[in-house]
Amino acid sequence: MNVHPLRSCTRSLFTNFNRRFYTTESPFSSPTIRSLLLTNKKTDTSVTVHGWVRSVRKQKQISFVNINDGSCVKGLQAILNPEQAEKLNTGTCVELKGTLVNSPGKEQGKELQVNSINVLGECDGTFPMQKKRHSFEYLRTINHLRARGNAGGALLRVRHAARQGLQDYFAKNEFTQIDTPILTSHDCEGGGEVFKIQSGKKNHSPSSKPEEFFHQSTYLTVSGQLHAEMFASALSRVYTFGPVFRAEESLTSRHLAEFWMLEAEIAFIDLNNLLDITEQSIKHTIRHVLDTCPEEMEFFNQFVGKKDHEKNPLLLKRLQKTMDQGFIRMTYDDAIQMLQQAEQKSLKKLFQFPTTYGSSLQSEHERYLTSEACQDQPVFVTNYPSHQKPFYMRENDQESTVACFDLLVPGIGELVGGSMREEREKVLENKMKLAGMDIEEYDWYLELRKYGSAPHGGYGIGFERLMLMLTGFENVREVVPVPRWVGHCKY
Ligand code: 4AD
Repeated sequence: MNVHPLRSCTRSLFTNFNRRFYTTESPFSSPTIRSLLLTNKKTDTSVTVHGWVRSVRKQKQISFVNINDGSCVKGLQAILNPEQAEKLNTGTCVELKGTLVNSPGKEQGKELQVNSINVLGECDGTFPMQKKRHSFEYLRTINHLRARGNAGGALLRVRHAARQGLQDYFAKNEFTQIDTPILTSHDCEGGGEVFKIQSGKKNHSPSSKPEEFFHQSTYLTVSGQLHAEMFASALSRVYTFGPVFRAEESLTSRHLAEFWMLEAEIAFIDLNNLLDITEQSIKHTIRHVLDTCPEEMEFFNQFVGKKDHEKNPLLLKRLQKTMDQGFIRMTYDDAIQMLQQAEQKSLKKLFQFPTTYGSSLQSEHERYLTSEACQDQPVFVTNYPSHQKPFYMRENDQESTVACFDLLVPGIGELVGGSMREEREKVLENKMKLAGMDIEEYDWYLELRKYGSAPHGGYGIGFERLMLMLTGFENVREVVPVPRWVGHCKY
């Protein structure tokens, strides 16, 4: 058969294209140190390794250098001769070529006998992270270098694994991930803690007001929930995972101005299902992190979450206990009664804030409920009084409460907030009016109830607070790559 020359030319272009772009060969010039140490790579083979020097121990005949590329905690021990090690300091960036051999030392299984070294980036003795333990506060002042240390590196890898664990749970349960907007005209939580958006464009007249880019007031989102509801009423099971912003001036160890939230929104469920899904998604994530980051978790167990007494067991024991037992469930009413009974039984004043029905649960109350009453287990507190909660929560049919929950966790406080959503159009409209909201602005939200309204609910996990639970760190500023809190926006 005669083939038209143009067709044959197209075919050969296509096969070349395929060959070029679908190769399975690794495009990297060196393996990661983690994979070198983990895989059963034969010893006595030649390898190239890249990374940064963590420590140098120079002896007369040989030098021991620990090199780390950020892929694992321990790094690789490299054996060099004194000339090769001459220019090396903690922090130097290097390429090493050598032979991977079995190590005679107890500390590591394998080590690298270096044949040649190429210093890619020199580093002098002023490098602010020397081989000693630095305080977390100090490390935060050198945030741009923090990930070069064990804690900073391990944190980022565990954060990555936790995100994967959550996404894996939702993928396995047939959720669709939705990218909800960051710029919005709504204050979902109604707390007024919004950052307002303003165009940076200069006005001609200094006295005129700054321009409203969108011709209406807009903010950085405080939560993707209302938008997620839009899509749950079409796709049934959705979630969104993104940064949210709150202009709260609290300087506590639990609050950031920019943090990440995973928000799930689900149709055709009730409050009990919602608690089950919340509990499962958290346990699945803990399991995933323990399975995929054993070295990092062991490191945190030893150096970060160390509280070695009965009440506060080590991090790994604590996580295992969380996995093994069901989260406790109680109503707000039960919680208040427990607090009142504790106050009555105690000889001294137990709480600073009131424990009367209707008052908000304060940190001291949450601490008592998780650590004392529930013996260090997470606890769901459900059905809070309506007046304490935002407009979108579903009214229960009795006692002015809403079908909602907070998940409280020992040592952290509120990790998750969620609720059934008010799906009855008229009831919702009344609630919005009572909350003083502009009904016209939320017409689309009401229309979701007008056209085929479905019972639905959802929840939001504060990702940094989940990271506290997973790592044992005590301050959210430690578990986010570049923290932002009131008065602090460096980098
Ligand atoms: O309880 P919140 O405000 O709930 C919502 O925003 C709902 N719209 C979520 C939903 O139902 N889709 O926030 C949820 C979680 C809290 O439980 C807490 O873990 C975390 O977000 N959080 C913060 N984390 C760090 N810094 C802050 N300033 C936080 N505020 C809330």
